[in-house]
Amino acid sequence: MRDAEKTKRKRVLSGMRPTGRLHIGHYFGALSNWLKMQNARLPDGSPEYESFHFVADWHALTTHYADSSQVATNTLEVATDWLAVGLDPRTHDNVTLFIQSAVPEHAELHLLLSMITPLSWLERVPTYKEQIENLREKDLGTYGFLGYPLLQSADIVMYGEPGQQLLVPVGEDQAPHIEMTREIVRRFNAAFFDPDNLTSDQITKLRSSYDISEHSGISQELSVIERLRRAWRTAPLDYRTSTFANAGVPVRKTLQEPDVILTETPRVPGTDGRRMAKSYGNAIWLSDTPEEIRKKAHNMMTDPQRVRRTDPGRPEVCPVFAYHNLFPENKSVEDCARIERVNRECRTAEIGCVDCKKLMADALVKWIEPVQARRREYEANPQRVWEILEDGSKRAKGVAEQTMARVRNAVFNWEGAGRKASGERKVVGD
Ligand code: TRP
Ligand code: SF4
Repeated sequence: MRDAEKTKRKRVLSGMRPTGRLHIGHYFGALSNWLKMQNARLPDGSPEYESFHFVADWHALTTHYADSSQVATNTLEVATDWLAVGLDPRTHDNVTLFIQSAVPEHAELHLLLSMITPLSWLERVPTYKEQIENLREKDLGTYGFLGYPLLQSADIVMYGEPGQQLLVPVGEDQAPHIEMTREIVRRFNAAFFDPDNLTSDQITKLRSSYDISEHSGISQELSVIERLRRAWRTAPLDYRTSTFANAGVPVRKTLQEPDVILTETPRVPGTDGRRMAKSYGNAIWLSDTPEEIRKKAHNMMTDPQRVRRTDPGRPEVCPVFAYHNLFPENKSVEDCARIERVNRECRTAEIGCVDCKKLMADALVKWIEPVQARRREYEANPQRVWEILEDGSKRAKGVAEQTMARVRNAVFNWEGAGRKASGERKVVGD
């Protein structure tokens, strides 16, 4: 890939916990968008996105540390469903599927970010208190659980390159995590920006934004530049990211700030009308057989006001009708006619719920057939799934290594120290 092509592509990063098999809620909540990004092309025919999708096995431990026995199996299940819906790194070189823990650089970046992350930022993440409330049966008073949004930040920024757009497709509930990630990136960049490397333009800007005389501790004997450097180094991180940043001081961007792509996801109710969730037992799994799907469709909740066959119904409150609208995604003329017919005949009680559900199940089964055909192939060859994850993890590691080289150098400047040391040795040896 040429460099020009690389920067043109937008980087996409998204992860999923290894919860096991995926359901149609996961499909519409995430996978359908991942697929669109896999297939999106620029006018010149090249891929618009370069996507990295990973199974967040470490994230699973933040809540399920007491029983890690299912993580490996569930990782395979999740990846198999990704491949089943049509994500395919073998035919799309712009897509990488990998396992988080196979790229240990994520842990190193998490550690370095943890040094500059105020505890209060983690405590105020909305899901933090919520989860502790929701998962009362688990002791979530751990360091790992508090740090979970920060691990997520590390996952994301690992795949960013300065100047290249970094996008995270998430639902609204995850948006605060991305906002925190942006703040952490700004703080990191400011913390490990070495003012030794200031250009004269930056110095002029710094000078106009920062009153050196305020800092009486800094000796007035020093040159303006040296006073500015000291002022920078001694200023609290908040000050560096606010005052300096507002004055347009161009801090070197070691890490790239991510942007959210708020994906418009249709509401996918469970078979009982509530939110689709494994724990509610109301899910339709991507791996359900046609018979299971038909049975679930038959037992689905409908408009509660439609008690008798002759009662008119309200499709807009009925989950069966929601599914009519969801399947298939790309609707033919016949699909539109079916939806229109159901919408009309439900309201006039011309169609009964049993028939309506049959029509819906037909459409859903037809949509899911190719997904399941692919799943069967991968199930018969699970080593292929592992190979794809292994190859992907190697590739992800390649990107992560580059990011970490940049990060380590920003934090410690070992390279500079090394150069200086060897230069000095030379002088001594001469
Ligand atoms: N927190 C996400 C979840 O619970 C998984 C995840 C981990 C993630 N790291 C991420 C999502 C980075 C997007 C980006 O499903
Ligand atoms: Fe729902 Fe269909 Fe029955 Fe109307 S006819 S209430 S849309 S199942």
